Amino acid sequence: MSGSGGRIPDSFIQSLLSKTDIVSVIQESVKLKKNGSNYSACCPFHQEKTPSFTVSPTKQFYHCFGCGMHGDVIRFLMDYQSLSFVDAVERLAGRIGLTVPKDPLEAAKAQVKLTTTMVLNRCAAFYAEKLKHHPEAKTAVAYLKKRGLTGKVAKQFQIGFAPSGWDNLLSFFQGDNGALKILEETGLIIKHPQGRFYDRFRERIMFPIRDRRGEVIGFGARVMDKSQPKYLNSPESSVFQKGHCMYGLYEALHSKQKWQTAIVVEGYLDVVALVQMGVTGVVATLGTAITTHHLSALFNLVDELVFCFDGDKAGQGAAWKALQLVLSFLTENRQVRFVFLPPGEDPDSYIRQYGAASFKSLINNGTSLSAYFFATLCEQIVPDSVDSRAHLASVARSMIERIPQGIFKEMMFEQLAKLVASTPQVVRGGKAFRSYYSPKGQTKIKVAPPPKPMETAYIASALLLRNPDLYGAWEGRSVFPSQIEAPGMEVFYQLMTLLNANLSAVQLREKLHEAGFELKRLVESEAKIALLPETGLEAEFIGALARLEVVGREQIAEKLLLKAKNMALTEEEKQKLKEFLQSRESNNSV
Ligand code: UTP
Ligand code: MN
Repeated sequence: MSGSGGRIPDSFIQSLLSKTDIVSVIQESVKLKKNGSNYSACCPFHQEKTPSFTVSPTKQFYHCFGCGMHGDVIRFLMDYQSLSFVDAVERLAGRIGLTVPKDPLEAAKAQVKLTTTMVLNRCAAFYAEKLKHHPEAKTAVAYLKKRGLTGKVAKQFQIGFAPSGWDNLLSFFQGDNGALKILEETGLIIKHPQGRFYDRFRERIMFPIRDRRGEVIGFGARVMDKSQPKYLNSPESSVFQKGHCMYGLYEALHSKQKWQTAIVVEGYLDVVALVQMGVTGVVATLGTAITTHHLSALFNLVDELVFCFDGDKAGQGAAWKALQLVLSFLTENRQVRFVFLPPGEDPDSYIRQYGAASFKSLINNGTSLSAYFFATLCEQIVPDSVDSRAHLASVARSMIERIPQGIFKEMMFEQLAKLVASTPQVVRGGKAFRSYYSPKGQTKIKVAPPPKPMETAYIASALLLRNPDLYGAWEGRSVFPSQIEAPGMEVFYQLMTLLNANLSAVQLREKLHEAGFELKRLVESEAKIALLPETGLEAEFIGALARLEVVGREQIAEKLLLKAKNMALTEEEKQKLKEFLQSRESNNSV
């Protein structure tokens, strides 16, 4: 601490700031490059490849878009040179030959302004001290040893111990009402309904959670036996938002080794074990699902992300959730992989059993995002029928659409097309939008172009031949088969008409032949559906009808639009057009 305990008058600080140029002060320790009206550099507070640290001479402020460090020139000296406020002010004053005045009256009242993180830092130190010296610490140390932790890594993560008893922390801060208030706000002490407070964390291993600057913002706390709940965590507070922070990020940012790949795991002990074994860039979410805040923070640091979740069901679920969120971050330069550990293992148990080399090789050979994406979708929607392939394509499309424009997105569409035996153009469906004018010519409606009819009518006909009972499924649809123009539609329409006459499949085929229909494509379609199980026929037929119906609606809408150019539509026609146009976007079926 500085020798001058007194409060420095605000007026002096203001005049000091006005006489000091932040650019020249920062330039003494960081190489700044002029960049427009600002200066930029690789951030001195965290590891990065591209400069996101900027200094504004006009605002006399610095800000890092990567790690969020920001402030005026005093703050810079405090953070960069680890000076106290008073020392930083004295340093700056000395630079320009000023002495810092001391206001004796203010000095008498001098009081350190307590900040939340200052109190939480002291709590972390308190728990760490208990791990060293408390009579009960033997069990805690034995537990950590049993889990394989070294003293070094425990110190690095400032792991601590909350002894038994209801008022250890409480008595430590006794009389310091400011601190007690902060302890209550951050949930470290809890108010009993009868008015007294008690410690939240008892008989647990304490894992301090730190922000990027290393300030403690909360705790995770593990029991040392099999009791429940296994972990207790600090509740959210003004300084602790789980969706924004990650366990291990501070340690990763300040590790001596550079890292190019961020590894996201699930647990506190996973982070600690991996770091102890020499893996860098490891972070964990705080018992919650990963958020876009987490992802953008990580992608600001590196271009490669590996999700390594436990080999259980929860881990699988977490991975799929992460995949969905990460899609919108996938520019070409970025890579995402998924590592699935053997069932029952987590990163901690794996690396301790098989070693760091084996774990690193798992990380380097993780499943690519695209492989994981398509494999999982195919498990959920087995592409073994025309209908399920259409369904698969539309589910996949809605997800692929979240990927930013670029080569990666194109490649995903190509892969999807192969998977569902179609073309990239078709699986993209609603992508190529076209503008139409409404009948009144006022509102411009953006809609997808009509889907291509393909062979759906033949498939539907083949299904009807195989099971004429399916006939009734057309009922209640908004267009008639006679209104749809598509390859094979005439055969289909003929069949529907003939079915009124209650004929067998053999008779139906004869009738079609007599009527002069070319049956080659129908026969091909019959071969295609021959392998469908009996139980799947109806769903397949309904799917085909739905697709035909979309085609019909599109065609009717097109005709009405054309008509509207030359003459007024009837109320009924307008209504129909409006309805059909509106349904286009949601119905851009394959
Ligand atoms: P795990 O159950 O995988 O625990 O929970 P772990 O970290 O591997 O710990 P060990 O190896 O069993 O000792 C993963 C994470 O989920 C949160 C914690 O953040 C934990 O690190 N969690 C788990 C809780 O918040 N509460 C719980 O009761 C359990
Ligand atoms: Mn574990």
